[in-house]
Amino acid sequence: MKPLEISAPAKVNLRLEIKGKRPDGFHELETWMVPVSVYDRIRIRAQEGFSFRCEAPGVPTDESNLAVRAVRVFCEALGVAPNVGVDLWKGIPHGAGLGGGSSDAAAVLVGLNRLFETGCSLETLSELGGLLGSDVPFFVWDSAAVCRGRGEQVEPVEFKGQLSLLLVKPPFGVPTPWAYGRWAQSRELPGGNYRAQEFAWGRLVNDLERPVFEKYLFLAALKNWLLEQPGVAGALMSGSGSTMFAVLEEPGDSVARLREGLHGEFGTNLWVESCKTLSGAG
Ligand code: C5P
Repeated sequence: MKPLEISAPAKVNLRLEIKGKRPDGFHELETWMVPVSVYDRIRIRAQEGFSFRCEAPGVPTDESNLAVRAVRVFCEALGVAPNVGVDLWKGIPHGAGLGGGSSDAAAVLVGLNRLFETGCSLETLSELGGLLGSDVPFFVWDSAAVCRGRGEQVEPVEFKGQLSLLLVKPPFGVPTPWAYGRWAQSRELPGGNYRAQEFAWGRLVNDLERPVFEKYLFLAALKNWLLEQPGVAGALMSGSGSTMFAVLEEPGDSVARLREGLHGEFGTNLWVESCKTLSGAG
C-alpha cells in the first residue's frame, strides 16, 4: 500500500476570550480559530511494528510527542496493532501558539482512520483528539471554527474571504500552562494595546495577551510596532504566543518591506512568514 502524505496546517486565533477558570483547572473559552497556509508534513505507512521519525531540532521523538500519543490513543480505542511508521517534517515552529503539535496529532488520527479503513466519523476522531489536547479536535474538522469549553467543542463556521497574514515569532516560546495560570492575576501594561480591533469580518482580541505581555515585554512592543506600520490593518498574539500576526491590507510589496523593517528593528533571529487563511475542506 502506498504511504499517505498529509499536510497539517497551523492555526491562528482571531478571537480568544476566557470566560473563567473551571474546577478541573482548565479555562472556559470561546475562541475563533482559522487554519493558515503554513504546514507540517506527515507520512504514514503500514509496516511491521511502530516507528516515529522527526529530525527537527528540539522536537521530542518519544511518547511525549503528541503525534506518537495520537497513534497510541487511536490504536487502543480501535483495537488495532500500531503497525505503522510515521515521519514528520516541521514547518510550524513549536511553542508558538500556532497549534503545530495539535495539528500533527489530528493529522495522525485522520491518517490512521484512512490507512486502517476503520470508518470513524469526524465526531469520533474529534473525541479521540480531545483526549490528546484542547486544540486537537479543531484540526480534525479542517475548517474555521468557533471552539468552546476548554477548546474541544468545535463548531465549524464558514470564514468568508481570505486574510493575508504575516506571522512573526521571536526565538523564545511561551509555555501554554504558564500563560493560562497567570491570566487571573495579570494586569494590563501601561502603553500595551489590548483593545478589540473591529473589522467587517469580525474582531481581533486575545485575553491571553494580558498575562503574556506582562512577562514578555518584547511581545507588547512587537505588537505596537506592527500596528504602526502602513499596510497593517490589525495585529494580535496567536493563542498563548509567542507568535504575533499582522493582518495585511495589500500583501504584495508590504511583506518584503515589513520583513526588512522587523529584522532591522528587532534583529534577524525573528521567524517571519507570510500566509493566508484557509477555508478548509470542511
Ligand atoms: O489541552 P492542552 O494540553 O493543550 O492544554 C495545555 C495546558 O494549558 C493545560 O494543562 C492548562 O494548564 C492550560 N489550558 C487551560 N485552559 C484551556 C486550555 C489549556 O487552562 N482551555
